[in-house]
Amino acid sequence: MLRKLSWLLLVVAVGIGVHFALQNIIQSGDPEKRKGPDLAKVERLEAADPVHGAKVRAGMVKYESICRLCHHRTGQGGKFTPPIAGQTAERVELMLKLYRSGTHVGPMTNLMAPWAADLSDEDISNLAAYVETL
Ligand code: HEC
Repeated sequence: MLRKLSWLLLVVAVGIGVHFALQNIIQSGDPEKRKGPDLAKVERLEAADPVHGAKVRAGMVKYESICRLCHHRTGQGGKFTPPIAGQTAERVELMLKLYRSGTHVGPMTNLMAPWAADLSDEDISNLAAYVETL
């Protein structure tokens, strides 16, 4: 029994190792993919205004986990996604609320709307505060 268990553990450990090794190889061609958000900038904003800074940080966490996939780290957009960097918080908030409400916005609304559907007002306001810093 114990022996079987250690085999299982070994297999799982090797599996995890191979997974990360492959991930590294696949991503190593694109250093941009491994870069994190501009933490120094977020820290500066937190130091200057803790309340606003906290919103920016919460927005950053959400952005990194959901939005970055399509809009990229810097919000520059991609082949199928519009750039959002440089937009005011007001505009980002307005757009996210439009998508959340099910309004048909642009030709690729169906790609964007599901990601806005579950956002709370607070999420939207935090995300808008972060996107404005990009
Ligand atoms: C699956 C890819 C995808 C994900 C994930 C995604 N978006 Fe989008 N986003 C799009 C596409 C595509 C559009 C353009 C849709 C259209 O045609 O109206 C868009 C549009 C937008 C716009 C409006 C841009 C403009 O100026 O018209 C904003 C703002 C935006 N996204 C923010 C976000 C935020 C914030 C998140 C994370 C919660 C997010 N998006 C997640 C693909 C995505």
